[in-house]
Amino acid sequence: MADGGGARPAEAELAAALLAWYDASRRALPWRAPPGERSDPYRVWLSEIMLQQTTVTAAQPYFIRFLKRFPDVRALAAAPVEGVMQAWAGLGYYSRARNLHACARVIVNELGGRFPDTIAGLEALPGVGPYTAAAIAAIAFGLPAAAVDGNVERVISRYYRVEEPLPGAKPRVRALAQALVPQRRPGDFAQAMMDLGATVCTPRGPSCGLCPWRAGCGAHAAGDMETFPRKAPKKAVPQRYGAAFVLVRDDGAVLLRVRPPRGLLGGMDEPPGSDWREAPAPPEAAALLAEAPFPARWRAAPGAVRHVFTHFRLTLTVFVAPAPPDFVPPPGCRWEPRRSLAAAALPNVMRKAVAHGLDCLSRDWRRLERAGAGKISGAGE
Ligand code: ADE
Repeated sequence: MADGGGARPAEAELAAALLAWYDASRRALPWRAPPGERSDPYRVWLSEIMLQQTTVTAAQPYFIRFLKRFPDVRALAAAPVEGVMQAWAGLGYYSRARNLHACARVIVNELGGRFPDTIAGLEALPGVGPYTAAAIAAIAFGLPAAAVDGNVERVISRYYRVEEPLPGAKPRVRALAQALVPQRRPGDFAQAMMDLGATVCTPRGPSCGLCPWRAGCGAHAAGDMETFPRKAPKKAVPQRYGAAFVLVRDDGAVLLRVRPPRGLLGGMDEPPGSDWREAPAPPEAAALLAEAPFPARWRAAPGAVRHVFTHFRLTLTVFVAPAPPDFVPPPGCRWEPRRSLAAAALPNVMRKAVAHGLDCLSRDWRRLERAGAGKISGAGE
């Protein structure tokens, strides 16, 4: 950490200035209790789980609908999980909805319908991590816990000019944030920090003129607010190349196989393909074609299908061919009828590969029919 210039107000003064700003500028959000009232843990918990998934603006209608349908933790626990998934639909990342339901059942069945009122108790709940536990503890139970999310990291790292990049600086930022939490109104303080980060100390073009902490802010003094938080340089993402071979039967069925149960996209469907290899440049089509799983009239579809996985980028060249006559699927492969293709367990990248191959084949088909060449299937090699 480097110091940012002039004397800073003490922690208690900073907290008081932020709370005064919050009293004047707080956002009216449906999960917030009116000023001076204690928040309901159920509402706080539900909103925090939704806000892990989406923005404050997008979460509000979901929150209101959800609360109407499941007004308290007992109603949520008593509902079938399908109903909860349905109310969650559109927010994405469905394991959060499953955890939400599981958590409601733990609270009702094991804790007498009451939310734990300690950090450790909250962290033991399904789907509740350190940030969410701190937010619930502070907002719903008035415990002096610092809820440090990305917004708060930005505010703190700017104010104190934290030079160490994130994520390494997280413990330091958390300690700095914790030291600011007041004994009185810690829940309002947590929400004030969130509001300050979201509305004033924004990632781009922060509104320093409106900030209650402007006078002591190190980044504001230096005028380099947007360079905080410092971030470790992103590691270059490796690029891998491979091929997908889309074989199509006369009736439109597509040959698929199931990926091995463990590992990336484990147990999901795919058209047969080559290995995926890291390389600085795309391999020649002929080299990829040499990896075709069986002979057919393979044609490379123009372009390629690209996908970004967590640890690498993949570029797939798609080859497509009509099934040779009397073709028998090799072990592990099956014909997937066209009508059920949409319901197959194809991950997005493989869905794109199949669609690209089919699109290319149908264009060939139309071209050949126009040229009077008849069907192109049945001409295996
Ligand atoms: N972001 C995460 N939790 C929030 C809350 N309770 N209010 C506003 N923004 C938030």
